[in-house]
Amino acid sequence: MIDAEKVLNFLKDRRTIRRFEDKEIPDDAIKMILESGRWTPSASNKQPWEFIVIKSKEILRNLWDSKAVFSPSFKKAPLAIAIVGKIDENPNWYETDTILASMNMMLMAWALNLGTCWIGSMNRKKSKEILNLGENDFVLTILPIGYIKGKIPNPPPRKEMSQISREIN
Ligand SMILES: Cc1cc2nc3c(=O)[nH]c(=O)nc-3n(C[C@H](O)[C@H](O)[C@H](O)COP(=O)(O)O)c2cc1C
Repeated sequence: MIDAEKVLNFLKDRRTIRRFEDKEIPDDAIKMILESGRWTPSASNKQPWEFIVIKSKEILRNLWDSKAVFSPSFKKAPLAIAIVGKIDENPNWYETDTILASMNMMLMAWALNLGTCWIGSMNRKKSKEILNLGENDFVLTILPIGYIKGKIPNPPPRKEMSQISREIN
């Protein structure tokens, strides 16, 4: 059985990581991250997604240079995974489903001592061109992944529980 307290601490300890070591990530670790995406729940179990592992330095550089992705965290990432929604496989839910998959994958990366950063600062159209994707593809995000360089950042503060939660009796 998994200890719930440990799970909560794991969730609290995960941090967005923006600086990465220049160190290759083993294929086994990549596989685990992909598996955690594969087992994400999805509306009607349609699984409207594709996960594209980008190892090519040239494409990583191109995504950065062309400002398809403009978070500095991306610049030195040794690897990235594009999380792509397949629009026609579930037009109403592909975005929600891929968002959930991205969270599963970030958590698995953290369990493997790898850091990630959910990137919203991006030009989806440009990234689609660079990744050679089609009309039916929606690039939710491209997660840079790597071993953590330097100190793990302090946790950004969270709102108080009383601000975000209430009971209806
Ligand atoms: C939808 C979304 C978009 C984000 N976009 C960016 C981004 O473009 N660049 C960046 O550096 N961090 C980005 N972040 C990371 C957040 O800044 C980070 O999750 C937040 O500050 C809380 O920090 P924590 O993840 O360490 O708890 C994004 C996070 C989410 C969930």
